[in-house]
Amino acid sequence: TALPERLWEEHAVLIAALPSYTFVGMSNTKLCLYQGFWIYEGLVPAAAALQRRFAPRQSDVVVASLPKSGTTWLVALAFATAARHVHPPSAADHPLRRLNPHQCIPFLEGLFAVGHEGKLDALPSPRLMNTHMPLAMVPGAVPASGSAAAGGCKVVYVCREPKAMVVSLWHYLRRVYPELSLAETVDIACEGTMPYGTFWDHILGYWRAAAAAPESVLFQRYEEMLRDPDESVRSLARFVGMPFSAAEEAAGVVRGIVQLCSLDSLRGMEANRTGYMDPRVMFPREALFRKGVADDWRSHMTPEMAHRVDGVVADKFRGTDLTF
Ligand code: A3P
Repeated sequence: TALPERLWEEHAVLIAALPSYTFVGMSNTKLCLYQGFWIYEGLVPAAAALQRRFAPRQSDVVVASLPKSGTTWLVALAFATAARHVHPPSAADHPLRRLNPHQCIPFLEGLFAVGHEGKLDALPSPRLMNTHMPLAMVPGAVPASGSAAAGGCKVVYVCREPKAMVVSLWHYLRRVYPELSLAETVDIACEGTMPYGTFWDHILGYWRAAAAAPESVLFQRYEEMLRDPDESVRSLARFVGMPFSAAEEAAGVVRGIVQLCSLDSLRGMEANRTGYMDPRVMFPREALFRKGVADDWRSHMTPEMAHRVDGVVADKFRGTDLTF
């Protein structure tokens, strides 16, 4: 369409001036350092537009994450929770039985990248959306503390242990870029140049916002969701202002949502076994559903790789009370 071209023209000078590099193993993919984060070149105009024009409503819920942190799972859980009165989890025609979870809610930068953000305005409240952008690119979502600006919305962030995220990223990328090695993936993570990285500033941006405004930002841990998915869903529901009633608890609605969104359940759906995430980049949808465990990194990383990631984590998260 003409619109992305217009966006490109507007941002061509900006993009040309940004530090950039071609991502190892991904020969056609350039990442640009935009406001301290490594963003796909094609998403820089979207990041700028999102920053300027995203108008959150108080009732909005934005699911945020770094890729390979449990996004798909949290998107499915949040959708099933928010939509449960219209689509009970047991319904045979539940959207999650027909669609990939990412088809159930809009992806913010995906819409902004193609100039389709007007679709967001047309959505009825309450809206549920997701993004991989750092919080700095969605400034209206959580007004700066002390700012007189009203507004903001609810943000649910999922954070995963970095070694597990890196191994998951490698498995995912090599579905399309088989020559990419784990060593190279560890390099880009530790150097901070992974897509949407640095991973530490991405995580810390949301972590600090959650500490400052816990009513605005819920910071979820993937490993905690694995340990107690039912309780994670309850806290998600409370946070978005839709706690489960005693009658729903008695009827097993929480369990129903957790089961519907379990890895085995989602993996088995036709919409998740076939097709691609984006016809331009051929990531098969089934690659989103791999192992879903906490410690698979142990089977892949050498002790040196693990030590290196741990060292970066110790260094970058020192002085915060966030531990892995
Ligand atoms: P692994 O590669 O370690 O298996 P994202 O959705 O952010 O891309 O994250 C993908 C990771 O989440 C993958 O991790 C994937 O297996 C895991 N995952 C996907 N769906 C899940 C679910 N329903 N429950 C638990 N983990 C899930």
